[in-house]
Amino acid sequence: MARNDDQLSREGIEEHGLNKASIGSAFFPVPIDGIGDHELGVDLYLSHEHKTPVLYRAKGSSYSNADFVNLREQGITHFYIPNVQHCQFQEMLRNRIGEAIGDDKVNREERVRIVRDSCGKMIEDFTSNASLPGLSDTINEIAGQFSQWCASESTEFEYLYEMSEHDFYTTTHMVNVGVGCTLLASELLGAGHPQIQRITLGGLIHDVGKRGVDTEILNKEGKLSDEEWQQIRNHPQVGYEILCDQEGMDPLAIDMTLNHHERLDGKGYPNGISGDEISLPARICSVVDIYDALSSARPYRGPIPPCKVLEMMSEDVGSAIDSTVFEAWRRVLGRMLEADPERAVADKPGLKVPSMQSMLPSQQCQERPADGCVLLKRASGESFDLSVDSSVKCGEIGLVCDTKFTPGEQVQLRFEDGVSEKVSFVGFRFNAKGQGLAVFKLGKFSLHAA
Ligand SMILES: [Fe+2]
Repeated sequence: MARNDDQLSREGIEEHGLNKASIGSAFFPVPIDGIGDHELGVDLYLSHEHKTPVLYRAKGSSYSNADFVNLREQGITHFYIPNVQHCQFQEMLRNRIGEAIGDDKVNREERVRIVRDSCGKMIEDFTSNASLPGLSDTINEIAGQFSQWCASESTEFEYLYEMSEHDFYTTTHMVNVGVGCTLLASELLGAGHPQIQRITLGGLIHDVGKRGVDTEILNKEGKLSDEEWQQIRNHPQVGYEILCDQEGMDPLAIDMTLNHHERLDGKGYPNGISGDEISLPARICSVVDIYDALSSARPYRGPIPPCKVLEMMSEDVGSAIDSTVFEAWRRVLGRMLEADPERAVADKPGLKVPSMQSMLPSQQCQERPADGCVLLKRASGESFDLSVDSSVKCGEIGLVCDTKFTPGEQVQLRFEDGVSEKVSFVGFRFNAKGQGLAVFKLGKFSLHAA
């Protein structure tokens, strides 16, 4: 149900005198689930059908989960926050991350979701405008928290990487690489080493230069034209220039950004440096970057399974990839997967690799039509006939409904032709029409347009 301005006014929004402002450049949007239940550090505005935003909750008031549910039921997806409160919003995100890391009472899935979402929002802001005041310092603080978390609760921190979404979004990739760099640097340098925070920062922001590359080029299947390839090859240099303009930016993070696509044999880019000219932090970033890029689904293919990724990478050890760094990454992955026997099977000598259905390459997935209906059955026996929404990303299925599920909840899906699969709940989202979608992670199936 769409909400109108009368409803907004009934919630007392007109009282504050801040309700008339231009939505154009004066506000930035934030999903309604990106706020958390806190005393607000910012003003939250709502905009109905792109009209002038009106104040919904003022800074200092509270925003609860009940408010979130209420707004979601009314089809509202985003708040608008005044640009002048950007710093305060970053502060809120930083506090959310700090609290989630330290809150043992919240379950692991929820803690990880909050940390990944909030960190992703910061990286997204940084990629679109690195000069926003205080943002790089805030990301650096998050890097410090990751480093400490990894040193004090390594298994919990590893879960932050295990729960990585492997999609083709640059922001998700940068969060994955940041977390992976914490793990790999800790393995090589020892947990708590002072350089780990700096290497994590470099990993989190290493692809900032991709903001200058067209998304269509980043996701293009097949051969790139010379001009397109040049855009890709330029992104480390563009990132380097963005970071050099940042007062106080760590030179180590700048080095990782510039050199994460260089190869030991000098055939990398942008400058073709080789051997010892490539620093250890850049080598670390390179290994995690390549691993995440190959493990991630692309619009034109599914994710490649870990054992295959490691096999592919091992062919480049010595020529492109540093052998010591690569072996350390193998140990990190092997340990992580051994700790979770349900997700790991012995597939290669000396290494446990996951049997995660979601890691199957697309050619091994059975394709299902990306429209029509499925029957969803919960463990309680409750069942629903739901429409499939084709807008969710590769490896997931979105079902149009408002029913609540808990993160990780397992349900049985039965497609129209009778085939079925057990899947787990990932989260609740909205499609472009404002319909609520319950999103589940697919395993043995992938969707294709009918
Ligand atoms: Fe890159």
